[in-house]
Amino acid sequence: MKRYVIDGEFGIDALKLVESDIPQPGPGELLVKIKAASLNYRDFLMVTGNYTRNLPFPLVPLSDGAGQVVAVGGGVTRWKEGDRVMGCFFQEWPAGRITPQVPKSALGGAINGVLAEYALFREEGVVSLPDHLSFEEGATLPCAGVTAWNCLQKGGLTCGDTVLTMGTGGVSLFGLQFAKAAGARVIATTGSVAKEERLRELGASEVINYKSSPDWEKQVLKLTGGVGVDIVIEVGGAGTLLQSIKSCRMGGNISLIGVLTGQRGEMNPFPAVMKGVSIHGIYVGSREMFEDMNRTLSLHRIHPVIDRIFPFDQAREALQYLESGAHVGKVVINIP
Ligand SMILES: NC(=O)c1ccc[n+]([C@@H]2O[C@H](COP(=O)([O-])OP(=O)(O)OC[C@H]3O[C@@H](n4cnc5c(N)ncnc54)[C@H](OP(=O)(O)O)[C@@H]3O)[C@@H](O)[C@H]2O)c1
Repeated sequence: MKRYVIDGEFGIDALKLVESDIPQPGPGELLVKIKAASLNYRDFLMVTGNYTRNLPFPLVPLSDGAGQVVAVGGGVTRWKEGDRVMGCFFQEWPAGRITPQVPKSALGGAINGVLAEYALFREEGVVSLPDHLSFEEGATLPCAGVTAWNCLQKGGLTCGDTVLTMGTGGVSLFGLQFAKAAGARVIATTGSVAKEERLRELGASEVINYKSSPDWEKQVLKLTGGVGVDIVIEVGGAGTLLQSIKSCRMGGNISLIGVLTGQRGEMNPFPAVMKGVSIHGIYVGSREMFEDMNRTLSLHRIHPVIDRIFPFDQAREALQYLESGAHVGKVVINIP
């Protein structure tokens, strides 16, 4: 079978496409024919050596994939050949609180991921692909979808709330779709004039351009009658967190997930204290959250927003496209 590996060198061009044997499932494992994979910003950081340089080489990158079970190992009872499944970002976080063990089971980082024709998963490490979704659509969910879901749950989302999303990337658009399905109002930002209309089409009540309005938190306050939003899905990190705090209502919630403005920086956290804002660090989510999210997707017939699908032999081009920031929603790789 063919698989891509990061093997000692970093950079998109250093990603290698290699031949290897199809692995055989051991006890409690499944072999899945991967049909589609999707890219997250994390994958770009991983491939370029900006996430961690301490990887178990050779490492198959990408956490998010969907496919069909082709073989099961001894003792497997939850799945059978032919089942349509998606891998969980963490192979060992079935439910409950995150523990120190959980990150050691992250696909495409701590352990091999899904940019391959076949992949092994733990029996407890996959969920069913909802019937109304294609493999390409399912492949967008394990990281971006579950993270957005977790952000809104941690933020205590209630019907009638106002949610602030930032940019038109994978997590932010899932946040928009889930918040709308729950009866919330969404204020969305983007740095692109061309993407403003698309955000409105997808259900954003108001759109703010963070480039033409660098003090976008003032616009957010204006749009909420000076009150602020209930929940922010914060993808920018150190460079935007203070503005997110200022955008929040008293006692509001920030789900902090991203590093789009860089992994380091300084900011004054005192405004969070004075507003009683809760800041929740979010690290994707558990299988239970994934299953809860899938019930909502099925109920509301929600389809993920896919920007572009690349063929398997153009995985490097797909990463370059993600790096360009031209996308709206998810960038997917089809694996025949
Ligand atoms: N903690 C976790 O578990 C977790 C999980 C998933 C992702 N993340 C992180 O969340 C972030 C987003 O990930 P993703 O995969 O959704 O990314 P993505 O699909 O690559 O989306 C990036 C988009 O963010 C927008 N953006 C860039 N700089 C921005 C800024 N300064 N302010 C506001 N928006 C900005 C741009 O949209 P416009 O062109 O519309 O401006 C860009 O297209 C990344 O930092 C990623 O590492 C964390």
